Amino acid sequence: MTALETELEGRSGGDLKESSIPVLETERLVLRAPRFEDVPTIVAVANDRRVAEMTANLPHPYAAKDAEKWIANAWASPDHPFLITLKTNGALVGATGFVMPEFGDPEIGYWLAAEHWGRGYATEAARAVVDHLFADRGAEAVVTWARVVNPASRRVVEKCGFQWNGVGLARLKALASSVPVDKFRLERAVWASLKAWRDPILRRTAPKVVIGDRA
Ligand SMILES: CC(C)(COP(=O)(O)OP(=O)(O)OC[C@H]1O[C@@H](n2cnc3c(N)ncnc32)[C@H](O)[C@@H]1OP(=O)(O)O)[C@@H](O)C(=O)NCCC(=O)NCCS
Repeated sequence: MTALETELEGRSGGDLKESSIPVLETERLVLRAPRFEDVPTIVAVANDRRVAEMTANLPHPYAAKDAEKWIANAWASPDHPFLITLKTNGALVGATGFVMPEFGDPEIGYWLAAEHWGRGYATEAARAVVDHLFADRGAEAVVTWARVVNPASRRVVEKCGFQWNGVGLARLKALASSVPVDKFRLERAVWASLKAWRDPILRRTAPKVVIGDRA
């Protein structure tokens, strides 16, 4: 156990915070709180400049001490991080989560290891976090942002129902500078409407289509 782990083991608040991060399950993914035993795996997938240069808080290069700090900070701050793991084998494929500020709307973020891009995992994970914020935490709106040079992330937020809400600057650790970003917002009413459209109960009550004489 490292010195940081030992120090945190002694803080009961850490345990309480970790247990307050729920496990979110989707069709293909399990989203769960990161733990110190995940550090080597987190380093293996997070140490990628292509990922770091699109996110605010991933330094590059990414070392074990960065993962330890991330986990420790999550326990002691309003951040609620989740590791994104595959339901089939538990493999770590990325991370997502949200910050619950004292004032203002919760902000979500996400990243996927490059070998897992293009399979819909980011959208599936982001939707689970958005659902959690509205359904379980009473959020009235959820916000996020994407670099203007990141069309894949813009597409993810679009697929989650977010609407463009202006431009701004975000500071990126990996670049040690600020970059232009598009900001997005999803209101509770829009989310509720999207959920109603997807509600399987509505589909079950749809009239049966009969072709020709066949029942
Ligand atoms: C952005 C990121 C999370 C997307 O993850 P993913 O699992 O591949 O995302 P999904 O498969 O759910 O959706 C990606 C969508 O973007 C589209 N896309 C991918 N590259 C694109 C490009 N260059 N131009 C336009 N659209 C693109 C995909 O076709 C897909 O849309 P579709 O379902 O309509 O076909 C991933 O690329 C990543 O981790 N990038 C680095 C970190 C990052 O950008 N994090 C977000 C910070 S805001």
